[in-house]
Amino acid sequence: MIKGVWRHWRYGDISCFTTDNVTHWFGSFMDLSRPLVDAGQLGRETASGSGSEVRHTSRTLSPGGKNDSACSEIAGDGLWQDGPMEVTTLAARPDLLPQIHALAEVWPEFMRQDGTGELYYPALPSWSEFVLAAIHDGRVIARAVSLPFAFGSEHGRSELPDDGWDAVIRWGHLDRIDERQTNCVAALEIAIDHDHRGKGLSARMVSALRDNSRRLGYRELVAPVRPSEKHLEPETPMSEYAGRTRDDGLPHDRWLRVHVRAGAEIVKVCPTSMTIVGTPAEWSRWTGLSFATTGPQVVPFALVPAHVDVEHDYVVYVEPNVWVRHDCR
Ligand SMILES: CC(C)(COP(=O)(O)OP(=O)(O)OC[C@H]1O[C@@H](n2cnc3c(N)ncnc32)[C@H](O)[C@@H]1OP(=O)(O)O)[C@@H](O)C(=O)NCCC(=O)NCCS
Repeated sequence: MIKGVWRHWRYGDISCFTTDNVTHWFGSFMDLSRPLVDAGQLGRETASGSGSEVRHTSRTLSPGGKNDSACSEIAGDGLWQDGPMEVTTLAARPDLLPQIHALAEVWPEFMRQDGTGELYYPALPSWSEFVLAAIHDGRVIARAVSLPFAFGSEHGRSELPDDGWDAVIRWGHLDRIDERQTNCVAALEIAIDHDHRGKGLSARMVSALRDNSRRLGYRELVAPVRPSEKHLEPETPMSEYAGRTRDDGLPHDRWLRVHVRAGAEIVKVCPTSMTIVGTPAEWSRWTGLSFATTGPQVVPFALVPAHVDVEHDYVVYVEPNVWVRHDCR
């Protein structure tokens, strides 16, 4: 039985404490190999008999016990603040495919119109080991999708590409056709249904992607991250926005913060990560707005303005993202 659920603000970890005095841990932010707490403050104990497969429990002790906290690492299924939650692969649960596809509805219509996505989403079963779903109460409440690709100068790919999301999908797609040996995983998206947001699930999904990449033998997980709050200031250049930090040194943007807190390094902005084009009539259908004037136009939830060309009958939106790199080892 769960006695309490709380968030370890110092680390961003989330855990709960059960009546059998076992702390269950849901985030991966506390990396025991790094001195996040004074070495003298960190004790370790092994917990067992909780019903979950507890790998280890660590406790941080503070003078007087006022700020004591504890984290445990569990293998397999985990508890979560809304109850039991399991992260699985599409390979293990092919029956989840329709529900995984259905989560596309978290995106505004125009974001689903990037043609490059056609090389990936309809072929999800081909990457089923790299597609994760979080299940709660028998329902898929989140998806985290990724694909492997070959990275390195021998493949003419010495740097993460400026056209981030689009390029890495093309690379992974070509690698699959050519049956090329891959050595890196790209996270393409984490999407959580509206009812389960704001409960720390995103960190759990990042951690699951990293664990999954490691399980499949990869050392690196990269992601062209779409900063969650950038759409609130579409005129700000992404380089300025992504570099903005809080007093504690973590990124100002909450989604970039989740990655950095999980140990990711921010590599660079990919200025042309996604390109979405359509006629003004199509864009009106996707957004409910009118695109009747040539020039830049702000679109709700877009990270930068779209460019309208009425004379030539098109609108083009070029979305910048931010490459981050996670070490999976
Ligand atoms: C981005 C997304 C995955 C984040 O998941 P979430 O459940 O909303 O967020 P979490 O509860 O895990 O919290 C992550 C951070 O955001 C903050 N946060 C969560 N909800 C917030 C809100 N409504 N307002 C401000 N901050 C919020 C949390 O406090 C946390 O930051 P902190 O740990 O530094 O405090 C989710 O919102 C989503 O699926 N969005 C649509 C798809 C998307 O944009 N995916 C990411 C690009 S691929």
